[in-house]
Amino acid sequence: MSCDLFSLATSGVSGLEPYRPGKSIEELQREFNLDDIIKLASNENPLGPSQNVLDSIIATKDISRYPDGNGFYLKKKLAEKHSVDIENITLGNGSNDILEMVARTFVTDQHEVIYSKHSFAVYSLVTQAVGAQHVVTPVNNWNHDLVAMLNSINDHTRLIFIANPNNPTGTWIDKNNLRSLLEQIPSHIIVLIDEAYFEYANAEEKYPDCSLWIKDFSNLIVTRTFSKAYGLAALRIGYSLSHPDISNLLNRVRQPFNNNSLALVAADAALGDLEHIKNSVQLNQLGMQKLTQAFDNMGLEYIPSKGNFVCVNFEKPAIEIYQNLLKAGVIVRPIFDYDMPNHLRITIGLESENTKFIKELEKIMAK
Ligand SMILES: Cc1ncc(COP(=O)(O)O)c(C=O)c1O
Repeated sequence: MSCDLFSLATSGVSGLEPYRPGKSIEELQREFNLDDIIKLASNENPLGPSQNVLDSIIATKDISRYPDGNGFYLKKKLAEKHSVDIENITLGNGSNDILEMVARTFVTDQHEVIYSKHSFAVYSLVTQAVGAQHVVTPVNNWNHDLVAMLNSINDHTRLIFIANPNNPTGTWIDKNNLRSLLEQIPSHIIVLIDEAYFEYANAEEKYPDCSLWIKDFSNLIVTRTFSKAYGLAALRIGYSLSHPDISNLLNRVRQPFNNNSLALVAADAALGDLEHIKNSVQLNQLGMQKLTQAFDNMGLEYIPSKGNFVCVNFEKPAIEIYQNLLKAGVIVRPIFDYDMPNHLRITIGLESENTKFIKELEKIMAK
């Protein structure tokens, strides 16, 4: 006898659409038997991690023992970096892990979660998984519409997600506007500000470092990641800064040992490598200039971005261009999942990768 196993799942989970990651190099190699493939699809750091990080991983021999379940040394370093106490910090298996912990900790099927249209896919996934109502606010010139977000608050609102800058649009909110929004949100509503691309956006003078505001807003959670500028995406490590009571609560749903030993030592080493971050951000700025200049030359409109990626508009469904790029060995990211079927999201790569992408795109556009 068999039974409909889907009917046994919670309604939140059976209604989930799994997250669709960008295509991997191995997958494309299998499909098209290509050698020379570049991937500009998942907002990773094309320089990878620093040599110090690699050395720290190689020096970590003791992998038969469980890692430090409290991540003490890394938290200590993070506490120093942010001038906060260890109790303000929660470590996640990637910052995605924190997004999920926050939803599980604070949100039930009686609640509403507010996030913006075209914002990071995981906000919708974690909202769905806990069976809460999605309240998706419209955008203003591709950016979060803060007035619409404020107007959407009601007695059921429990959590608001804001990505600054946002993925996939790359749009950002300035200090004054974000601070003013936080001041208007009642303190019983949790606000999560996702700063996954902080290191790239931080060069902009009006870009806020919201980690400085956790002392002012007890309902504020700021997330950061080692997956982007630090180049540790494969190790899965991120963290949040918040009021200690929030960290205490998140710690109750956190998986024991959610950070492996290699990730803990690598993140620790990465924090000391300011030069690597500086070089990575510089490479990104140059690559962004090169790509946007090429889009201008081709007459293609793009969304100005403060991340390490940019969305370009083809004014028609972009899937064919995406497929033609794949055939040329270039993986970028279609974003129809984000209700942006005419755009492709391009991660800024190495100089040689950016050049290859532009050359192949020009060939496709000239056809
Ligand atoms: C806005 C945003 N937040 C969070 C994440 C999650 O990153 P990770 O789980 O690797 O820290 C991403 C990844 O692409 C992202 O774009």
